[in-house]
Amino acid sequence: PRNEFVSELMAKMTIDEKIAQLVQFTADGTVTGPKGGDNFIDEIKKGNVGSILNATGVEYTRKLQKLNLDNSRLKIPLLFGYDVIHGYRTIFPITLGETASWDLDIAKRSSEVAAAEAAASGVHWTFAPMVDIARDPRWGRVSEGAGEDTYLGSKMAFARVKGFQGEDLMATNTILACTKHFAAYGAAEAGRDYNTVDMSERVLRETYLPPFKATVDAGVATFMTSFNEIAGVPATGSKFLLRDILKGEWKFNGFVVTDYTAINELIPHGFAKDSANAGELSLKAGVDMDMVGGIYLKNLKKLLNQGKVTQAQIDDACRRILEAKYDLGLFHDPYLYNDEKREKSTIYKKEFLDAALYAANKSMVLLKNNGTLPLRKEQKIAFVGPLVGDDWNIIGSWAATGDRTGYATSIQEAVNKMITEKGKVTFDKGVEIVDARKDMMQKALDNARNSDVIVAVMGEFENMTGEAASRTNIDLPGIQKEFLAELKKLGKPIVLVLMNGRPLTLSWENDNMDAILEVWYPGTMGGEAVAQTLYGINNPSGKLPMTFPRSVGQVPIYYNHKNTGRPYLGAKDPEQKYKSRYIDSDNSPLYPFGYGLSYTKFEYSNLKLSSNTLNANGKLKISVDVANTGNYDGEEVVQFYVKDVVGSVTRPVKELKGFKKLLLKKGTKQTVEFEISSDDLRFYNIDMKFVAEPGDFEVFVGGSSATGLNDKFVLVM
Ligand code: IFM
Repeated sequence: PRNEFVSELMAKMTIDEKIAQLVQFTADGTVTGPKGGDNFIDEIKKGNVGSILNATGVEYTRKLQKLNLDNSRLKIPLLFGYDVIHGYRTIFPITLGETASWDLDIAKRSSEVAAAEAAASGVHWTFAPMVDIARDPRWGRVSEGAGEDTYLGSKMAFARVKGFQGEDLMATNTILACTKHFAAYGAAEAGRDYNTVDMSERVLRETYLPPFKATVDAGVATFMTSFNEIAGVPATGSKFLLRDILKGEWKFNGFVVTDYTAINELIPHGFAKDSANAGELSLKAGVDMDMVGGIYLKNLKKLLNQGKVTQAQIDDACRRILEAKYDLGLFHDPYLYNDEKREKSTIYKKEFLDAALYAANKSMVLLKNNGTLPLRKEQKIAFVGPLVGDDWNIIGSWAATGDRTGYATSIQEAVNKMITEKGKVTFDKGVEIVDARKDMMQKALDNARNSDVIVAVMGEFENMTGEAASRTNIDLPGIQKEFLAELKKLGKPIVLVLMNGRPLTLSWENDNMDAILEVWYPGTMGGEAVAQTLYGINNPSGKLPMTFPRSVGQVPIYYNHKNTGRPYLGAKDPEQKYKSRYIDSDNSPLYPFGYGLSYTKFEYSNLKLSSNTLNANGKLKISVDVANTGNYDGEEVVQFYVKDVVGSVTRPVKELKGFKKLLLKKGTKQTVEFEISSDDLRFYNIDMKFVAEPGDFEVFVGGSSATGLNDKFVLVM
């Protein structure tokens, strides 16, 4: 019926009506660039628009939909898109933080909640998940994705699409997902947003594309192009990416939208000579919808008449967009998502807030602890730092319509609720995040002097991460470190709580603090989650989805690097000079990918392989015992990595191939099992064939990418 319906409709459509479907304009909301068209209201009235972004709320979207339908000869509904990245009203931890949970159910659940709230508020389509692999913490957008690893990123991407879209797009609690940014946006040179990307096709296919493919496998409805060029071709004009790979090899049958004015940007890229040329190149490359740029609206009909684009190309784009509208049920009822009562009863549901609290608790990563944490209620604690009373930054960037100062709880508020005994806790900012004022420091130091433990809550402004927020210096900003140094002179134990959206350089902090807890931007319920974690109601179990460097000079740094021909073996290496190393820093990161401590202790033993050979069609089982030998119940993410020792092309020093999260009561032990087959060992060989090659492999199982038990097997083909 969908095909018939859309075909019948298209048979009635004029060329102008078809082109209108390919056009998206923005309402007055978050605009991240220039607006390409006239006033969006006028464009709707003229019947020029297929989709609107940045319009939310039942009432407002109904008003715009009505305006559109009143002016649409064929009554084709508008599609409302919005950046629902880590929650709509109930805000979950930023995606990077949520990924630190290594919990696919959490990723799915948070997307479900986001979809339910957004759909109840008139939104049909989110521009998420963002699945860009990112290995450069200078790039502000690392906060929006799943970090550096292809395997973990692919699993998370799949779960998030399933969460947003559910099983039925017509259901009033699901929305269209949009995989972005296609492709390799995270590899911007020097970590500068929108910057040039260049890489081999092998790295593109092996490292950057799999999370995108995973979302196609999950049935994602839409894709967004990226701003960057790859190997000289801007992604928005890349036939190779859009037609050959996405719509060809992967048989993606949804539609492709550009990023904001990305077609226009083909001109400054030096790829198109004018806007007509940019439109022509984009449509031919496989772009279906023009986000905000107004280029398709202005040029496509002319281009068609000139024979520069074909009717079939326009029809194909139009069909894909109409199909998405059909799938949402909008032809059946254009106001399906416009029910005031549902909006009211859905937003901030108790179960959503509970889910956000759960996710925030699971996203916390304990980076250091000498036993200072957890805090005890009888201790006198001086809470200090610019983010301790904050209920604005705590929900992070791209927080959709999340209520920053109403629903979001600060850490101060949450601690005050928990610690009711008078005089046990004090709160002082001490310093601001970026400015160098010192006038508040003294009072904070006085309170700190009279405490048993100091908890300093510091980090970045939420807008120091996200789009167009690249940094060359990834230290704690401002004079926060100076303030920590003053606190340190008091000789009290100090816990540093970090709220930030990227790996920071924390060498000094690691040397000088007693405990460090990374809480990211933990969302609406973040204050509660931090309080629960500090006081031991929650035992932190997060593991880093991105490497934390010792210094910005090590960037890009990631665990699955190549060995080089002159690998440096560390301080004990007999050759210290002519090795692949720095003369002023260790090669190793401060905190590796997969790292994260717990209040309890886990011990790994008894690594066993079911055989030391794996046959082409066989399976290999890998098992390990994990014991909780500490004093608390806790969760551990058991990680399984493989190294292909010799290949027709060189292989990384190790690659994640599996993980399992365990809840272990104190004093108990569990056996964890992984399984692999030769399919899991495939890569793009010297002939660009995706195959496994026979030979030696090493296996590592442990609690991070840098520690673990190891063994070997041989793959026999
Ligand atoms: O979805 C975003 C994208 O990630 C960055 N540019 C703007 C788009 C729409 O807001």
